[in-house]
Amino acid sequence: MQIFIDSADAKELAALAETGLVDGVTTNPSLIAKSGGDFFETLKAICASVPGPVSAEVVAQDAATMLKEGRKLRGLADNIVVKLPLTVEGLKACKTLEEEGHPCNVTLCFSAVQALLAAKAGATFISPFLGRLDDNGQDGMQLIREIRAIYDNYEYPTQILAASIRSANHVKDAAIAGADCATIPPAVFKSLYKHILTDAGLEAFLKDWKSTGQSIL
Ligand code: E4P
Repeated sequence: MQIFIDSADAKELAALAETGLVDGVTTNPSLIAKSGGDFFETLKAICASVPGPVSAEVVAQDAATMLKEGRKLRGLADNIVVKLPLTVEGLKACKTLEEEGHPCNVTLCFSAVQALLAAKAGATFISPFLGRLDDNGQDGMQLIREIRAIYDNYEYPTQILAASIRSANHVKDAAIAGADCATIPPAVFKSLYKHILTDAGLEAFLKDWKSTGQSIL
């Protein structure tokens, strides 16, 4: 599974990229606003520190303007992916941009039929929002399973990018359900490698090692 970080904090992303475990980044207008930085400079900084796909979202509502915004965003760096909302205008823009060779991430997906349309529009990524569905009393993970089944039935190459992740369990369940990627907030990413038994076990090993009085180097 590819691991993307859901953030627009260029400094934090650069630090996380040093783990070698980060395959890409997703941003959205809310995350850009939270970062407080200039949109274009922030994206350029992120693209320079993370070699994989970096999603940058358009804000236009009509396909013609989305195309202009998408092409401009793609000019910032080779690894930019144009993020488009799952509206009919977004799907139209997706089809054209993908035909031009610009990879797209269709976002704000809340149903399997929406995901089917994104695949038909040739999207490189589809982003089903797990946490927001759960928050709304629905089963986000069931959506991942449904999209996986549909994409496998018809061999659509669109990659399922599990989004709106809230916990390590979301990451685990999305991986089991067959998501190709998950975009994870920094705090959840840092929780993935933590386990209380790892810490306790390491502490005991180091204590016992110290008692031997030996050293490796
Ligand atoms: C995905 O691309 C979105 O940026 C993100 O996952 C939304 O998550 P949220 O529901 O926590 O805002």
